[in-house]
Amino acid sequence: MEKETCIKIEEAAKAWTAEAAEMLQKSFEDTLTITYKSHIADLVTNMDKNIEKFFIEKIQKVFPDHKVLGEEGYGDEIQDTSGIIWIIDPIDGTTNFIHQQSNFAISIGIYEDGKGIMGLIYDVGNQNLYFAKDGKGAFLNDYKLPKLDKTTLSEAVIGVNATWVGPNKRINHENVQEIVRKSRGTRSYGSAAIELAYVASGKLDAYMTMRLSPWDFAAGLILLNEVGGIATNTDGKPIQLLKQNSILAARPGLHEEILNVLVR
Ligand code: IPD
Ligand code: CA
Ligand code: CA
Repeated sequence: MEKETCIKIEEAAKAWTAEAAEMLQKSFEDTLTITYKSHIADLVTNMDKNIEKFFIEKIQKVFPDHKVLGEEGYGDEIQDTSGIIWIIDPIDGTTNFIHQQSNFAISIGIYEDGKGIMGLIYDVGNQNLYFAKDGKGAFLNDYKLPKLDKTTLSEAVIGVNATWVGPNKRINHENVQEIVRKSRGTRSYGSAAIELAYVASGKLDAYMTMRLSPWDFAAGLILLNEVGGIATNTDGKPIQLLKQNSILAARPGLHEEILNVLVR
């Protein structure tokens, strides 16, 4: 991608994200329309839909040859990774958005022919922008995030949802229990994008979960890549960008240590 195009995308993505965040903050003054999708815990609000439409309108106008993959389905039918694709989660952490008005984020990963170009995760409540550009590093607002050092499980704080600690159909929960027991502590924030941004910025040492969609992790992977974080499936295989994936994201060293427990 040419430098000029990249700068134009960065400026637009940052400006639209700031505008969208303001719309989300303002929406707390109004009554939200809440419905659910596949089941009662799978919530969606009028704001999830409005924000996705807002980005699509802007992108179509300024970058008509770019494609959009959005959680709420207003974007394009994406069959393969060719071209420039904006992978958008208008609100990651909708349950938090509704119940807590905090710990939710706008997540945007921009890919060209399957390669991560730019990632933005905006933690709206804390007004923190996690931003990364391929080869240029990752930032928390104006602060350049350092490369992640190695760590061990006994010194690590791990992001994991309680779902995976009890019997479930996706992973041997006894292995997850062992990781929880051997770690320094666990946390669960209810927004995959924020949890991935926390690993990239060292607030968490690892994050593991069993089923995320492209819009949940697209931006986070780009951030992690810029700081030397490692992200794979929980069986150690590469993440497939356009599919649902289990995810293990961690500092170097720790990723291997956790994987050794999960795959045995
Ligand atoms: C959800 C959040 C949550 C994760 C779920 C996601 P949504 O996204 O990221 O932390 O555990 O798997 O679906 O529905 O709030 O955009
Ligand atoms: Ca999400
Ligand atoms: Ca969402």
